[in-house]
Amino acid sequence: MCGIVAYLGSREAYPIIVKGLQRLEYRGYDSAGVALINPKGELNVYKRKGKVSELVAFAKDKDISGHVGIGHTRWATHGEPNDVNSHPHYSQTKDLVIIHNGIIENYNAIKEGLKKRGHTFLSQTDTEVLAHLIEDIQQNENMKLGHAVLAALNQVIGAYAIVVMDKKDPSTLVAAKKGSPLVIGIGAEDFFVASDASPIVEYTKNVVYLEEEQVAIIRLGHELRIRNLKDKEITPYVQKLNIEIESIEKGGYDHFMLKEIYEQPRSVLDSMRGRLHADTGDIKMGGIVDHEKKFEKAKRIIFLACGTSWHAGLVGEYLFEEFARVPVEVEYASEFRYRNPIIYPDDIVIAISQSGETADTLAAIELAKSKGATVLGVCNVVGSSIARATHGGSYTHAGPEIGVASTKAFTAQVTVLTLMALHMAKVRGTLSESRYRALLYEMESIPSKIEVVLKLNDDLRKIAFTYKDSNNALYLGRGVSFPVALEGALKLKEISYIHAEGYPAAEMKHGPIALIDDEMPVFVIATKGANYEKVVSNIQEVKARKGKIIAVVTSGDKDVRAMSDHVIEIPETDEFLVPLIAVIPWQLLSYHIAVMRGCNVDQPRNLAKSVTVE
Ligand code: M6R
Repeated sequence: MCGIVAYLGSREAYPIIVKGLQRLEYRGYDSAGVALINPKGELNVYKRKGKVSELVAFAKDKDISGHVGIGHTRWATHGEPNDVNSHPHYSQTKDLVIIHNGIIENYNAIKEGLKKRGHTFLSQTDTEVLAHLIEDIQQNENMKLGHAVLAALNQVIGAYAIVVMDKKDPSTLVAAKKGSPLVIGIGAEDFFVASDASPIVEYTKNVVYLEEEQVAIIRLGHELRIRNLKDKEITPYVQKLNIEIESIEKGGYDHFMLKEIYEQPRSVLDSMRGRLHADTGDIKMGGIVDHEKKFEKAKRIIFLACGTSWHAGLVGEYLFEEFARVPVEVEYASEFRYRNPIIYPDDIVIAISQSGETADTLAAIELAKSKGATVLGVCNVVGSSIARATHGGSYTHAGPEIGVASTKAFTAQVTVLTLMALHMAKVRGTLSESRYRALLYEMESIPSKIEVVLKLNDDLRKIAFTYKDSNNALYLGRGVSFPVALEGALKLKEISYIHAEGYPAAEMKHGPIALIDDEMPVFVIATKGANYEKVVSNIQEVKARKGKIIAVVTSGDKDVRAMSDHVIEIPETDEFLVPLIAVIPWQLLSYHIAVMRGCNVDQPRNLAKSVTVE
């Protein structure tokens, strides 16, 4: 959601900024803009509704020179997506320009005050108000830019990652962060600023992640300086980036989503590596070791998450209840944060998030902490806000996920939750040694079983062709496969725009069955396990109404094959580990259907990769 790129140095800023904005396209946006100070000291601002490519086409014959500049991709919050509301935004004199991710909640009150002082505004955005406020302070208090930004941010309520540039001082950029990530790359003789590391990684591995309420004063030829909002000098903590450029490129695949689906044998393995030791019967998870006693005594687990991560939490519910015999609640973070939830001292709260930046999940964590809860995180992005806000937890080692539709992050989350549940079971003695060890060995085999499913890609493409023109779809599953039905439906609707719903299979007759006719595809997980016979009955109910059945079955199954229109055979596994394998066909089917419908798979309309506003 919104992307920031800025450059200060001796190279041409424009190509670096544009390339960086393209790297951030995955975050979701509806307009793009850039501001550059050319060698004559003139400030040029170009902004366009639409894609970065449209901005590039617009700026083609314009002056794009300059060694300092800021660029932005905007996901509209205040004011519709149009050229005027796009960032960068000017101050009153047009000397300052600002780019901003986040929301200034009290912008209206500030705007009214500034209007009384003669300010006029061009856009409907909260961001423009901040540019005016900074300049107003700069002029009236006779302050340098860094101090004016600091003073302005002390008046602001809300969330921000900002970069400010002043035409009068082209060798300085000022950046600040609260509630929205910002990273500064330190090159040999230049600086890069971005909302994540992907625009920076090809230029430098030395980065500083700004912490909450920090302001960075970036000056050419000087060391990076950081102050907090209380004007206290902070020593920058320079870290080495551990991502490679290949991990954020498509590597020969048509889309990031397809690449990420195919990465799952590796990402599941990486999420277990060094943690799962089937031969010794150990699970070692560094980030939860300090909370072992809590795991032993916990009376309840509460999962907090949104979207696909919430579905992973639902899978976790079945796993923790089955393996560790502990009650579980799975909460939408957006609902939890606005309730007055009851948290007991023996509860463990686990927040799940790929990006680690989801605003609702972050707020829910803060609420849980304020009620005394121990909060653990399951995050994919190292150093993300959620990873830092939690007391401990485990990273999913899925690697950067660029496609907006989450795929490998889901299976990595389920992998980590499975390990946590098994570890908790061991600590509490709730599983027999033989079942525990069998599950550990079975977990080890999951990556190779995912490989087997990926080989079905051609068959899945053919099935996708049959259903690509559907208007509706139903996904069914029972037990631990029910959340996979929800995830399958979410994948299809978010990238192909086909209306799809996921249901526990038995719930179908309580309403959705009314939708079934000879045009309705019903995607069912009917693998062998305790619920198999029940699901077979549900399939018959669909067939009796002429619905089309596309079933994921255990390899060798004959009964479901006989009553289905299409079957997808997946390798046999423990029924509680089925989600890790059974979700793959649903991911591939959604992908192919979306491609066949001509949809933008990696950047579906209206969606953002990290949802940093509530
Ligand atoms: O980064 P998070 O895991 O916290 O994101 C949560 C949801 O926004 C995310 O899973 C979303 O539902 C995806 N588009 C699903 O594909």
